[in-house]
Amino acid sequence: DHRPRVLSAMQPTGASLHLGNYLGALRQWVALQDTHDALYCVVDLHALTVQVDPADLRDRSRRTAAQYLAAGVDPERASLFLQSHVPEHTELAWVLSCLTGFGEASRMTQFKDKSQRHGSEATNVGLFTYPVLMAADILLYDTERVPVGDDQRQHLELTRDLAQRFNGRYGRTFVVPQAHLPSATARVADLQDPTAKMSKSAASTAGLVDLMDDPKVVAKKIRSAVTDTGREVVHDRAAKPGVTNLLDIHSALSGEGVAELEARFAGRGYGDLKKEVADVVVAALDPVRTRTLELLDDPAQLDALLADGAERARGIAGDVLARVRERVGL
Ligand code: ADP
Ligand code: NA
Repeated sequence: DHRPRVLSAMQPTGASLHLGNYLGALRQWVALQDTHDALYCVVDLHALTVQVDPADLRDRSRRTAAQYLAAGVDPERASLFLQSHVPEHTELAWVLSCLTGFGEASRMTQFKDKSQRHGSEATNVGLFTYPVLMAADILLYDTERVPVGDDQRQHLELTRDLAQRFNGRYGRTFVVPQAHLPSATARVADLQDPTAKMSKSAASTAGLVDLMDDPKVVAKKIRSAVTDTGREVVHDRAAKPGVTNLLDIHSALSGEGVAELEARFAGRGYGDLKKEVADVVVAALDPVRTRTLELLDDPAQLDALLADGAERARGIAGDVLARVRERVGL
């Protein structure tokens, strides 16, 4: 009865996670913990690639972990930990960086995009080597499957290349991980710009449903969502991206099929749809928000839980790193 090992992580950047993270990642993580040996990490070292106030970073890391739990990650079944609590990540990242070509790292499109946006002075070397640290995060746990969105696919390819390169040079050491493809409904668009994905790095939070927004704010944001010309509630990503996004969100949370929703809203306007979507979103997210607040109310208990998760993670990471040290001659 081998349960494949799965690892996934999010950065504690931004004040909070959002509906896109919930539907595209967290909900899937909760399902995976039933069938997989799951490790869920808050990658606080990655968050240092952007300058952040120390107290804010600590708060955000705790809040992100609390949100994993509130969404249903079960610490009895999955290991939940902060990346910086497991120092093996940085040591393995160094070893892997010595195996990574400079040109190879330079081809990472996310780095090219981000460094272009930040400018070369504000671009730090951590941002450049970020994919190598991510490879270490994955390889350190003999991870077999990694749920990845489109934006991380290239980084997972690098991870696989590095694993194979190491294994070829030093003998079989790493498990070569595979992408675990998310379900079709995963992508949530920005409510104000439905051609873009909902993201914490968006310029404005008006189009983002924060998991910590109270129900009134959620309803207001959905009421103000950009819709499209015409009145028909139809799922048509090219012609009606706004309405399509609302239908996708409804369907993902309520389980009602898009065709059924279209039929039910035939002859009714966008206003009716928005009202119902707001109700569905609030019903799903309000328990998550309430539970997050309860968890944050008891930081000692949360910290104890994270310490326990880190200990379990180190149990695996220590063995893998010992193998690596042996292989490379340290
Ligand atoms: P953000 O863009 O808000 O910074 P990340 O890039 O840190 O989010 O992604 C964290 C996780 O959430 C990833 O698994 C990613 O695929 C998922 N995710 C992020 N935004 C969305 C979205 N709008 N729709 C679906 N999934 C998303
Ligand atoms: Na991002």
